[in-house]
Amino acid sequence: MRGSHDSPRHAVVTGGAGFLGSHLCAELLSRGTEVTCVDDLCTALPEDERPRPDQPGYTMLRADVTEPFEIERPVDLVLHFASPASPADYLRLPLHTLETGSLGTRNALALARRHGARFVLASTSEVYGDPLEHPQSERYWGNVNPVGPRSVYDEAKRFGEALTVAEAEAHGTDTGIVRLFNTYGPRMRGHDGRAVPTFIRQALAGEPLTVTGDGGQTRSLTYVDDTVAGVLAMAASDLRGPVNLGNPTEITMLELARTVIRLTGSSSEIQLIDRPTDDPMVRCPDITLARGKLQWEPRVDAADGLSRTVSWFRAHRAR
Ligand SMILES: NC(=O)c1ccc[n+]([C@@H]2O[C@H](COP(=O)([O-])OP(=O)(O)OC[C@H]3O[C@@H](n4cnc5c(N)ncnc54)[C@H](O)[C@@H]3O)[C@@H](O)[C@H]2O)c1
Repeated sequence: MRGSHDSPRHAVVTGGAGFLGSHLCAELLSRGTEVTCVDDLCTALPEDERPRPDQPGYTMLRADVTEPFEIERPVDLVLHFASPASPADYLRLPLHTLETGSLGTRNALALARRHGARFVLASTSEVYGDPLEHPQSERYWGNVNPVGPRSVYDEAKRFGEALTVAEAEAHGTDTGIVRLFNTYGPRMRGHDGRAVPTFIRQALAGEPLTVTGDGGQTRSLTYVDDTVAGVLAMAASDLRGPVNLGNPTEITMLELARTVIRLTGSSSEIQLIDRPTDDPMVRCPDITLARGKLQWEPRVDAADGLSRTVSWFRAHRAR
């Protein structure tokens, strides 16, 4: 679906100094959109991997979105990506995660309302919890433990979705919600606790790859360029969503570990360790909606995306 937002002049990207945000900023700048990144740097990339502060069209505003913030120039797109996102980060920052999903989303929505801007919330497949329906379509309401350790992230995102829908109803703000499934690629931090960077770091160091449980749990892994394309298609549309953006090819954690060992040529072994509490058993998106309404589907398969990521880790993380 083509909408009325095809060429934003100025976008605000909250969380723009993080993994996904930095890729989004780079792609927007390459399309000629000016970008203001709003980030408190709590889980940001190292400085030399963030967008360069002196880049033409790029402004960095160091701010915590849980506090109200204003942008003086007109804004026509707000991509709300600020939030600790990896288990290691949100377990370390539980209250900040809840406040970013609630107060932070409220402040980002208020910014979009004041500027008459299109707003897109980065929600997550974690809203489906440990799903009882497979694959997960947007109509599924989820199976989330509201008091488990992961709830700080899952419930913050669920509340953020509710807030986004309420904002559109109450004030007519032009909002959209994307539910992102696990995204991987260059610039991930090796110690952020997510499976792809953990396995690549361990394989390159010759350490055992720590697979949780029996490794039979599945995930949907989307290469970052595909996720960025989907988010920007959503931003350009008039869709409210939620819309799933993810790769419908499921992979088990054991398969992923073996693939990383093969791609790195590592002699590492696989070590089975305990599964974290409330770790979902399966993950696989139904992307009928994204295919039909955004003409979006992933283009990069796992072998290609993982080998690009391994090459990047060899050059940047194996120092
Ligand atoms: N990467 C994924 O696989 C994935 C999957 C689903 C959803 N998401 C969502 O996408 C967004 C980005 O994820 P990511 O993987 O790039 O994570 P990330 O941790 O690399 O980036 C998040 C960024 O947000 C910033 N931030 C956090 N709280 C903030 C606050 N209160 N004020 C200002 N800045 C703040 C951090 O400093 C960081 O730069 C998150 O909202 C996440 O929930 C990511």
